[in-house]
Amino acid sequence: MDAAGEMQKLAPEERRPGVWVCPTAEAAAIEAARRLVEIHAECVAARGEFMLSLAGGNTPRALYRLLASPGYREQIDWAHIHLFWSDERPVAPDHPDSNYGMAAKELLAHVAVPKEHIHRMEADWPSLGRAAQIYEVVLRNLLPLDSRGFPRLDMVLLGMGADGHTASLFPGEGNPAGTSRWVSTPLVEKLGTRRMTLTLPVLNAARHVLFLISGADKAEALQAVVEEIPCEGGGVLPAALVEPFAGERVFIVDAAAASRLQA
Ligand code: 6PG
Repeated sequence: MDAAGEMQKLAPEERRPGVWVCPTAEAAAIEAARRLVEIHAECVAARGEFMLSLAGGNTPRALYRLLASPGYREQIDWAHIHLFWSDERPVAPDHPDSNYGMAAKELLAHVAVPKEHIHRMEADWPSLGRAAQIYEVVLRNLLPLDSRGFPRLDMVLLGMGADGHTASLFPGEGNPAGTSRWVSTPLVEKLGTRRMTLTLPVLNAARHVLFLISGADKAEALQAVVEEIPCEGGGVLPAALVEPFAGERVFIVDAAAASRLQA
């Protein structure tokens, strides 16, 4: 197959409005990187900066590695980016479970983001509640507010668990839409631990939300989210609640995660 044929094979297919299916997880990371570079350039041109919130978990590792690699890292104006996190585990930044730690290893160690532009969620503080209050001050100092009074990020990267959670908004954990908080510290029953997370109104205040999802274990939840299939106990999965008030939401997924979305 010639190069054009190869490129065509990797090209994403819009299986549902805003749901782009790529053949592999690597192709999904490439598409996510392409969109991030494009949106970053628009934001820097318009406002001189790009306010980006990073996702945690393992899926974005491939994306961060790509952004740090030759061919991509030159396309990004790292000096004009501010990095935030969508959520964090209550561990030290060098702990293997740290979302900050993963991004630091795969991305920050390889690109020149000014350290004063790196806004880690200090979820390892003794008082998670106090750390959340401090993070709200960071958001207030750096971000404009949307029409609902919530801080407006340029882009929020998100993943999704097999149970349909996103950031640290888990099924059955209260009413995520009903909060006025910007950063919360929910007790996640199934994990037996607290997390620190941007709240749903902050995720929905973003200009762009990009879900990067891969793996067959996500297929059932992705179908439920995309097709808004109600949960047994009523309501929808947390990831389905992420619908920017005045922004764009896209899902970039691999074929395995999309296997229940009929073509
Ligand atoms: C976290 C993430 C979480 C993650 C999903 C998917 O801190 O765990 O923010 O929302 O995106 O759990 O994780 P994987 O990418 O590892 O499947």
